[in-house]
Amino acid sequence: MTTVLVVGGGGREHALCWSLGRSARVDRIIAAPGNAGTALEPRCENLAVGAGDPAGLVDVARRESVDLVVVGPEAPLAAGVADALEAAGIPTFGPTAACARLEASKAYCKTFLESLSIPAGASATFREPEPALAYLDQLPSVPVIKAGGLAAGKGVIVAETRREAAAAIHAILVDRRFGDAGNEVVVEERLWGTEVSVLAFSDGTDFVVMPPAQDHKRIFDGDRGPNTGGMGAFVPSPVATGALIDEVGNRIIRPTLDALAAAGTPYRGVIYFGLMLTDGGPKVLEINCRLGDPETQAVLPLLESDPFEVMLACATGSLGEVSVEWSDSACTTVVVASAGYPTASAPPGPITGLDAAAHEGCIVFHAGTDLIDGVTHATGGRVLGVTALGNTLAEATDRAYTGVDTIAFEGSHHRRDIGRRAPEPSRLPPSREVSA
Ligand code: AMP
Ligand code: GLY
Repeated sequence: MTTVLVVGGGGREHALCWSLGRSARVDRIIAAPGNAGTALEPRCENLAVGAGDPAGLVDVARRESVDLVVVGPEAPLAAGVADALEAAGIPTFGPTAACARLEASKAYCKTFLESLSIPAGASATFREPEPALAYLDQLPSVPVIKAGGLAAGKGVIVAETRREAAAAIHAILVDRRFGDAGNEVVVEERLWGTEVSVLAFSDGTDFVVMPPAQDHKRIFDGDRGPNTGGMGAFVPSPVATGALIDEVGNRIIRPTLDALAAAGTPYRGVIYFGLMLTDGGPKVLEINCRLGDPETQAVLPLLESDPFEVMLACATGSLGEVSVEWSDSACTTVVVASAGYPTASAPPGPITGLDAAAHEGCIVFHAGTDLIDGVTHATGGRVLGVTALGNTLAEATDRAYTGVDTIAFEGSHHRRDIGRRAPEPSRLPPSREVSA
């Protein structure tokens, strides 16, 4: 009897449960806490233990003789869930807190990258508004303003003017818009180019890069509006060529993993590099210590190898002994969000059309859902990730949108351009240098 415990309750964790449910080696999956979608997966059950309760998770893992714990979100990893599980001798897919700090502290990440001469935007970190504003004044161009801690993908403000940048510094350090995640602010050189996410499985020594995913961070079509956790993703990204992946592997991933191993903190799990492909080569925007969401929803359906074997190999340092094979197909995920996302939440409301979307050939991953009186309800935020495979990106995307069009709930909204336009490089407009 092989049991896997999946920690978290979003779209990424539903995709993990779905994927692990297809493993020939997995008999039982426990999602903690899971969502309405994980509860319906075969061999999967939800358990009301929070992702932020390390002692509770260790108890469950022991009591249920769990063979592997897969931790989805960043916050429990940063809080040391993997450390607690590993101390209890339970194989864990997900890095320790020392490694997760690369995501949890942007200031630490910047120092780490600098120490290894890994290319990234120039930056400075501040805890007080006055020196941050003085630094802003002397910069030649408008920088990006980042809350230093974990802010659910919303803590980065890509300011267009100095006034906006100054307001963002104020909102983070003075108004405390992101709470303690805003104890520090990172003021970072704005980079221009095409963005791509490169994710890799790692067992601490070896790594295997996944097919590159294209995320869509902004809320509106055409990459407009505020940043979100991600409104959709597709795989493969046309910008990430084999040569680029080799370069990223050699110049970015390899030195990062070697440095962590040399520090006695080998990285086990998925390491995620958010990159800007600039005229001067790929530069790191961020490192995440986990699978991306929604990227996972578009990547895992393409994994042809046994997901349990791959994740267990990462947890136990034997990735070199398993083969990791991917389908050549394309996959698109369109996120359907509730009214007000990403700034406000909406009251729960029933969802219709889920079965019809499945009939169209879509896999509907749940994120912000709950079963209320036996009916699946949207409970706010990113609610669903409607996912479809196809022989081509166009086929996958059309199928995903056919599914999206069958689904309805009060106030739902989604982007219409996921997978439908090639990622465009951002180019420095001449007026940018002089904007007020
Ligand atoms: P992060 O969470 O650091 O990846 O930032 C979220 C998003 O903000 C990224 O996906 C980019 O779209 C944007 N961003 C972050 N840093 C920069 C930068 N230095 N230059 C331009 N855009 C950035
Ligand atoms: N989709 C972006 C992230 O997971 O960080």
